[in-house]
Amino acid sequence: MLIRLTKAEDASAVVALDRQANPHPWGEKLIMDAFDSRQSWVVQAPESGEIVAWLCASQLYDQAELELILVAPSIRRQGIARQLMNAWLQVLQEQKVAECLLEVRESNAGAIGLYESLGFAQVGHRKNYYKTPQGREAACLYTLSLNEIPQGD
Ligand SMILES: CC(C)(COP(=O)(O)OP(=O)(O)OC[C@H]1O[C@@H](n2cnc3c(N)ncnc32)[C@H](O)[C@@H]1OP(=O)(O)O)[C@@H](O)C(=O)NCCC(=O)NCCS
Repeated sequence: MLIRLTKAEDASAVVALDRQANPHPWGEKLIMDAFDSRQSWVVQAPESGEIVAWLCASQLYDQAELELILVAPSIRRQGIARQLMNAWLQVLQEQKVAECLLEVRESNAGAIGLYESLGFAQVGHRKNYYKTPQGREAACLYTLSLNEIPQGD
């Protein structure tokens, strides 16, 4: 799998991935805005060239925030999200970013498992933050101090 920064021509593939892989799709407009104003990376399958994962993040001074990570349903639980998160965290460390933040739906056990396996710690809980078809659910706030991760070679 190839992990690389997103290019403008990836937008339609990312919109299609969002439709297929995101239980709460962002839609074309938000994704186009993200291409303009955020940092993002894709994972590309080696032979088909298909875009199978996307990570979108923002950065302000020495803090970064994960906005979204998506992996195509057919290739989940193969470590793709972990590799993509690690690639992103390594870039942040190289840029001397100190802290990484994210918010996740309380019901999203898969994503919470991923973040906790990478060392993120829960620091907050916002009740009734997200809409659901049944009503509302809480957001869990997580943080990771990048100073605590050993630097790679
Ligand atoms: C969350 C998501 C990105 C994980 O992608 P993935 O490539 O399957 O994750 P990985 O294979 O790298 O998993 C790494 C670890 O995360 C945890 N994890 C991932 N999916 C999990 C699940 N469904 N249930 C429990 N733990 C899970 C596990 O600890 C896993 O390690 P293990 O497989 O060795 O047990 C993917 O399920 C997805 O795209 N979900 C829909 C979009 C979404 O919810 N994004 C996050 C909100 S921003």
